[in-house]
Amino acid sequence: MNENLEQRIHDAIANPKNVGEMENADSVGTVGSADCGDMLRMWVKFKEDADGRKIIDRATFQTFGCETAIAIASVATELIAGKTVDEALNMSGTDLSAPLGPLPPMKIHCAQLVEGALRSALTGTPTPQATSVPQAATLVESFAPAAEKKVKVVLKPRGS
Ligand code: FES
Repeated sequence: MNENLEQRIHDAIANPKNVGEMENADSVGTVGSADCGDMLRMWVKFKEDADGRKIIDRATFQTFGCETAIAIASVATELIAGKTVDEALNMSGTDLSAPLGPLPPMKIHCAQLVEGALRSALTGTPTPQATSVPQAATLVESFAPAAEKKVKVVLKPRGS
């Protein structure tokens, strides 16, 4: 990875936005990456805008994923706030990671994991690059079979 991308990822994970379970979410999507075995869950809350359109009020995430996935999920949850479902569905992994700059080929699937979780939350169907994961009560339970080989956990206490 180039230094600029590394720095932007470092900056994003130093203070990740919208991390944690959303108690009153309207929808949730959990996906796993066939490329690396990482997982990401995204919660979405909708609201109506002044024109009566259903838009994304806010989104949060939890992940057992790499730093790049954390950084992308952080910026992506900020990008999709205020968008309609169709507008959000039209965003590719590249769009969702755009604030970080171009990703190297080996990190494209990290963006696809975020895109898959978003798509799963909005439609119930992830992208072909991401595998849908049963909605266990917690991401830890979803991840239990593979948890032994992973070390990174991003969790945030409720209400913080
Ligand atoms: Fe798995 Fe980045 S290496 S999501």
